[in-house]
Amino acid sequence: MNGCQTGKILCILLVACVLMIATSSSLRADDVRALTGRTFAQLARGGLLYDNWLAERGVAINETHPAYPAAGTQKGESTWRCKECHGWDYKGKAGAYSQGSHFTGIKGIRDYANQDPHFIARIIGDDLHAFGDRLTKEDVEALALFVAYGQIDTDLYISRETKKTIGDATNGGRIYLSTCTKCHGYDGKEINFKDDKSPEYIGTLASKNPWETLHKIRWGHPGTPMISLVFLDLKEQLDVLAFCQALPAE
Ligand code: HEC
Ligand code: HEC
Repeated sequence: MNGCQTGKILCILLVACVLMIATSSSLRADDVRALTGRTFAQLARGGLLYDNWLAERGVAINETHPAYPAAGTQKGESTWRCKECHGWDYKGKAGAYSQGSHFTGIKGIRDYANQDPHFIARIIGDDLHAFGDRLTKEDVEALALFVAYGQIDTDLYISRETKKTIGDATNGGRIYLSTCTKCHGYDGKEINFKDDKSPEYIGTLASKNPWETLHKIRWGHPGTPMISLVFLDLKEQLDVLAFCQALPAE
């Protein structure tokens, strides 16, 4: 082996190492398990509230949110959900809601990842958001923790073009089949989410909206006994998403 070849091999090894470190640290950076005790419990609740604080708290509102723009096509209660204005991918107009029936033109919450939860709590409590006393102080703290430490950069784990995740379906199957099956069935068809009875199963949603599915895998489904998997590695949560995407869509 000559010197030039050895140099090339070393160079390839170095690049591989850098890539490995970059990939593993991008997963670790979003690892919320550094939080413990009550703070972790609050964070988990924050994820549920972001999805649908009205369902989680049993609140009903008949009007459309005053800050919901005329450009949007949604009406009434759903316009009060954080996800409706800021997206399942937390990127607002820069993400999946850049078009379609959920477009609002509002920006996401990504700029506030890893920022001071106290400061975030003030934004959530501001006049624009108009939540008033519909949210308690604890709710706002939980939501602020979620914005600071619970959100992830979904583009690192889900392709915008193909909607496929980097997760491993085989490993995800171990978790899904021992946990989710209890309520959703082996094929994800046990609960049909559409009121009109047209089929929307776990497989349907996971392929159509992987961002929503991942959010629910991480935090649970508001107002139901569905559990949160946020205590697992993010990698394992993505594995569950991959398995869900492999389930039948019809
Ligand atoms: C009806 C739409 C609407 C809803 C619902 C909504 N927001 Fe907002 N939010 C906005 C608008 C508009 C802004 C200002 C964005 C800007 O400055 O361009 C904003 C800004 C923010 C910001 C600061 C983002 C930034 O980078 O400046 C955070 C954090 C935030 N909202 C969190 C939340 C949370 C948490 C909830 C749910 C409890 C929520 N929002 C619900 C419309 C909404
Ligand atoms: C204790 C029962 C239970 C368990 C366990 C459970 N879920 Fe659920 N899940 C529900 C209920 C109830 C709903 C709400 C159904 C509805 O909208 O009518 C739901 C909703 C969902 C949704 C949202 C569907 C939609 O369109 O709104 C997804 C995705 C989901 N579950 C995935 C999972 C996955 C993945 C697991 C395993 C990690 C899991 N669930 C475990 C009960 C459960």
